[in-house]
Order: sequence, then C-alpha cells, then structure tokens
Amino acid sequence: MFLRKTCQGVLQYGKGCLKLQTFKHSTAVPPRVQNSSAKRYIGKARLSSVTPSLSLLSRNIVTTSKCAQVDAAEKRNVTFEKITSFSAPYSHLKIKVAGQSLQLYYVWLRDHCQCKQCIDQKTFQKNIVTNDIPLDIQPKEVNIEGDDLVIEWPDGHVTTYSLNWLLENAYPGKPDILQVPKVLWNAETIKSQSPTPVPYQEYMDTDGGLRNMLKDLLTYGFGLVSEVPANTDATEKVARRVAFVKETLYGGMWYTRATGEYKDYKDSSFSNVGLGSHIDTCYFNEPSGIQVFHCLQEAPQGGESVLVDGFHVAMQVQKQNPDAFDYLVRTPIPHYCLDDQYHLRSVDTTFRLDPCTGDLVQFRYNNYDRGIINTIPADEIPRFYCAMKLLSQEVMSPDNEYWFKLSPGTVIFIDNWRTMHGRAEFAGERILCGCYLPRDDWLSKARYLGLAK
Ligand SMILES: [Fe+2]
Ligand SMILES: [Zn+2]
Repeated sequence: MFLRKTCQGVLQYGKGCLKLQTFKHSTAVPPRVQNSSAKRYIGKARLSSVTPSLSLLSRNIVTTSKCAQVDAAEKRNVTFEKITSFSAPYSHLKIKVAGQSLQLYYVWLRDHCQCKQCIDQKTFQKNIVTNDIPLDIQPKEVNIEGDDLVIEWPDGHVTTYSLNWLLENAYPGKPDILQVPKVLWNAETIKSQSPTPVPYQEYMDTDGGLRNMLKDLLTYGFGLVSEVPANTDATEKVARRVAFVKETLYGGMWYTRATGEYKDYKDSSFSNVGLGSHIDTCYFNEPSGIQVFHCLQEAPQGGESVLVDGFHVAMQVQKQNPDAFDYLVRTPIPHYCLDDQYHLRSVDTTFRLDPCTGDLVQFRYNNYDRGIINTIPADEIPRFYCAMKLLSQEVMSPDNEYWFKLSPGTVIFIDNWRTMHGRAEFAGERILCGCYLPRDDWLSKARYLGLAK
C-alpha cells in the first residue's frame, strides 16, 4: 500500500483523429506509509526526490490534437494508464497494445532509451549511467505518436520507443530467442527427419551453406558437411568457418591414429575400446560448445559412431519421474580430468535451465569423468542413485541411440551441450581428427546469420 495517483486514458486509432479522454485522478493511503517506504529506499539508493511535483501529477498524459494517419493494416487500439506513486520506484505507465499489457516503469524506460546520445552508435554500448537515474523519475510529457511512445524527461531529453520494440523487449524478458525450433529425436524419428549434409564448396563459399549446417545444429543438435578433403587442414578450415578453434589440454586441432594404446593422452577416447554415450569436457566449468569430428581413415572392423539426444533423454526422465528431473536440475555433481600436468575439476548440475524461461539449455553427462559424489548430504545418496539410474537407462536405451558410420569426407559438428556421442570398439587402425569450438562463438555466428536473436 502506498500513496498513489492514477490517470487513465483511452487512445484509439482509426481513420480519423486520435481520440482523447479526460483523465481522472484518485488518491489513497495515508502519508505515514509513504514516509516509511521512502526511508527504506533512501537507505539503499540515492534518490533525488521521493515526491514528484504537483504540477507533474496534474498533467494530462496525452496532449495532442494532430491526426494520426494510420494504415488500415496497422490499426490497433492502444489504451494506457499512468500510475504515479509517491513511493519510489513504483511509478510506471500501463499500456495495452495489440492485446498485450505492458507495465513500463519509468526508471526502466529512461534506462532503455536507445537514442544516439544514450547508445554509442559505433560500439552499441550504453552511454547512460544507470546509477544517475533517480528511482522515482517521472516524465514531463507522455505521448503516443503514430506507432511510437514518446516521452519527454524532466531534463528535456526526449525518448521515442516504437510500440513494436516495447512489445518485443519489455519485461518479463524475452531471453536469447533461437529462431529455429529444436526437434528432439530418438533412434526411430531421426531416421525420417535428420540433418542434410552440406557439400564442402557450398559450405565454404556461401553464407547459405554455412547457415544450413548451423540450422541443423540448432534443430537436431548436430550438423554435417560432406565432400571435405580427408585431411586435418581442410577439417580445420571447415571448423573455422563457424568459430575459432578452442585450445584445451588436447591442443587446438587434434589428430589421433589409434591402434589400441593410450598413445597421446591418458583418456579412453585415444584407445580402441567402445565408449558409451557421453558429453565431452564436463570437467570444464564451461564445457566445449561443439565437438568436431572427421574420420580420416575408418577402422577395418567396428568403430561405428553413436549419438543420443540429451534433451530428448531429459524429457523422458521428466515424463517418467518429475522429481528425479528436478533433483538433477539442482544437484551439483563433480567431474574431473587427471593428466600429466593437469587436474581439471568442475562441479555443476546435470541439467541446467535458462534462468528466464526455465527451458533446458545444457546437459552434462559423463560417467567416465564423474568425480567422487561428496557434494550432496548423506541422506540424499539413495535419491541421487535413483535419479542417475533412470537417466542412465535412458542414455543407454537402444530406443535413443542413433548408430552410423563416420567416413572420410564427412565432418560432423556435435552440440556438446545437448548431444552425446560414443563409439563401438574397433580393431585395426582408425585415424580421426577434430577440435572443439566455443559455445559463445558458434551461437554468435548463428545470430549473425539470422538464426537467433
Ligand atoms: Fe568424447
Ligand atoms: Zn536517449
């Protein structure tokens, strides 16, 4: 409860002029509440004033007599309500546009002015110092002009927001929007709907080719480039079309000629044993974004590859046992890697959700690299193993495993935050090269090509 003054108005577009209504004011709640509330805020932040001027409060929020020339297609009703509170920082404007209600706080509106003065036009960085904005800032003037909301601030600064921009950007936030919907898959469905390999020249020479591969990567969690010369240099060129190669303890581009010994690194991937489906580098605080593989020489026997859609597996777990899914969303699990001069370790959850939307954004699963479970209370141990068993059963289920043979000429990009990979045991020599690409940078390329916002 706080002292509040309300102005209401209805603004309608039509073929003719903007229609304005007179605004009525109402006042409520005793000033004592206002004072104590204001004190609390003063303790936390510097406020230039907690009481807006009376002249400002009595002002009509829309004062215009000009006609709006609005195309019939753009015709829409806009209603708004100005809430002026004495208890900062509650002052805001309510706008109803295109059927959506927006509650626009003045402090947010001033902070988000996108004009040339407030946003540097070369760097697109903010020039405005958010801390300089009084929490109880009030506009001098508010107008709807055509498809824009125009606000004049007390210092004379004028901000123009397009209503479309407000619809798209006003909170609750529209987080990183991928334009490409994900298609979750299992062994059956991926056979009928799967990535189309993009030929090497098209991929290297055209944005469209690169875009198609990245689109598949976003959709299915993996993408393919075909007709690539079977050598490390060509593979590196293909990888660098997406992003720079991430340096890790394995170097940048790696190359392995595995015959059954742990020749290069103390890691089972450099041997010839079969490997169950897993996510790579779970022991990094930020696991590698993409795993790139190019099989330069197939093994004479065995060595087939397998992929499992980690997001599909997660959904299966959630469907069968929502409690187990929730437990794996919030339970930290350690992973580690020990090598001659390395001791890498991270502690994080199996499923990570987007903080805004609650959508699944990352899956970590690697039983080979899993550390000692000393990160949870003793009485949760049975619950942990129960949830893990359900998850592992889904990971290892033949219903979810997509088996295929990697052959020279085809480079595969695997989203290492979503799709697990593994392989069958093999005999004889098998030559493989590849690298990791960073998550931020491959998504940056996807956004640059219009696949995400
Ligand atoms: Fe791996
Ligand atoms: Zn500005």
